[in-house]
Amino acid sequence: MTAEPARLDAPAPVAVLDRKRAEGAAARLLEHGSVVLLPDLDFDTAGFEDVMFAEVSGEGVKNVSYSPATGELKGTTAEGAAREKLKTLVARYSAWAEELVRDLAPGYAASLQVGRTSYRPRAADHNLSKRKDDRRLHVDAFPSSPVQGRRILRVFRNVNPSGEARYWRVGEPFAEHAARFLPKARAMAPGQAMLMQTLGLTKGRRTAYDNLMLQLHDASKEDDGYQASAPHWDVNFPPGATWLVFTDSVVHAALGGRYAFEQTFYVPVAAMEHPEASPLRTLERITGRTLV
Ligand code: SIN
Ligand code: FE
Repeated sequence: MTAEPARLDAPAPVAVLDRKRAEGAAARLLEHGSVVLLPDLDFDTAGFEDVMFAEVSGEGVKNVSYSPATGELKGTTAEGAAREKLKTLVARYSAWAEELVRDLAPGYAASLQVGRTSYRPRAADHNLSKRKDDRRLHVDAFPSSPVQGRRILRVFRNVNPSGEARYWRVGEPFAEHAARFLPKARAMAPGQAMLMQTLGLTKGRRTAYDNLMLQLHDASKEDDGYQASAPHWDVNFPPGATWLVFTDSVVHAALGGRYAFEQTFYVPVAAMEHPEASPLRTLERITGRTLV
């Protein structure tokens, strides 16, 4: 037996498309577990270099985080005019990413929910717990913000000024990942979800689906053997690249890179072209239960 990470032989599930070809094709590719990579879209950041490449992220904080719903900006020590300028830029990225998703996946537009926006100026933090360490392969699941079955769609863009890529690893298909870690997953205690909501630990009710997704996230990140030997592809996103991915079903890890934008969207399973490929329906098939 060897502990060498298994490089998968097949081409990585990354669909490199120009904008025209992505229109109409993006939803199907994304829903089947591809990363959709658009190498040459324009997002103009001219004139914002001072706030982008200053030390804009607060001490001990991973990301600058923005709420398009409230206009609140967190995770930066920038003040006054610099803070307003940074906020303007992050808000512009949010609007740009939303327009992109509406164009590429018109079937999502009517029920698209816009989540938080982040700007990630820092290198990956090496001092995090395994659960918080996004350098370890995982699917996304949020402990305090249950999605209740909705998909997590994210739009990333590398804006690194010195040519450095953002380095990702992409892992096995979701159904295989789920089958591997689901046998160790446990149900919530009776009353747990209601108690967590009442105490304000979760925004909304943590469903059985959220519970299983969190356990996949944690079990995968905590499994040193899996992290060392899991099948994966290495994927580099060069500066100027934009990529879209359902991070709730694409097993991923961010190994390195600085200066990226990210916008999170939530999309109901009902808006999918292929709902049967969603993590909700996949977990329901495997467990034989209704999870939301
Ligand atoms: C993650 O979702 O795990 C992090 C992705 C990134 O920051 O590139
Ligand atoms: Fe993630």
